[in-house]
Amino acid sequence: MATVKHKILILSGKGGVGKSTFSAQLSFALASLDFQVGLLDIDICGPSIPKMLGLEGQDIHQSNLGWSPIYVESNLGVMSVGFMLPNPDEAVIWRGPRKNGLIKQFLKDVHWGELDFLVVDAPPGTSDEHISIVQFLQATGIDGAIIVTTPQQVRVAN
Ligand SMILES: Nc1ncnc2c1ncn2[C@@H]1O[C@H](COP(=O)(O)OP(=O)(O)OP(=O)(O)O)[C@@H](O)[C@H]1O
Ligand SMILES: [Mg+2]
Repeated sequence: MATVKHKILILSGKGGVGKSTFSAQLSFALASLDFQVGLLDIDICGPSIPKMLGLEGQDIHQSNLGWSPIYVESNLGVMSVGFMLPNPDEAVIWRGPRKNGLIKQFLKDVHWGELDFLVVDAPPGTSDEHISIVQFLQATGIDGAIIVTTPQQVRVAN
């Protein structure tokens, strides 16, 4: 994480309010301004970033530097548990410690390179994933979190 200048968490209380959409749009917007951007999906049980970015079926490669993100643009790398699941239709049912272990690996073992921004798309609520990411990032500094909200009517319409 020493090579990452800014880390931004995208959170919400409720599900389906547009976190992943916003994370993806924010990442593309920053990348279009020529920043080097990483998009990290820590929604372990419901990773939607690969599908949202048209990256389904891509495989993560491993090198001596670590896991390589999937690059959607030359300056926008993406990492998600969705790239690691053999069957995208199968449910991921993991206890907290296993989720925490993977989130730690996403931060430590991924070769993010020099990044201006790391955008972290979280699952809904305030659960294991949120506690882990905040604890792990606290040592290196988090710039802030963006809370996504949506009027109930829009949420139901979706
Ligand atoms: N600003 C918006 N206005 C209307 N619909 C939106 C908006 N942003 C996202 N949506 C739609 O809402 C649905 C949920 O969006 P998204 O998957 O980004 O939410 P999420 O908060 O990441 O969900 P989850 O909690 O399951 O991770 C999608 O169908 C998306 O197209
Ligand atoms: Mg989401």
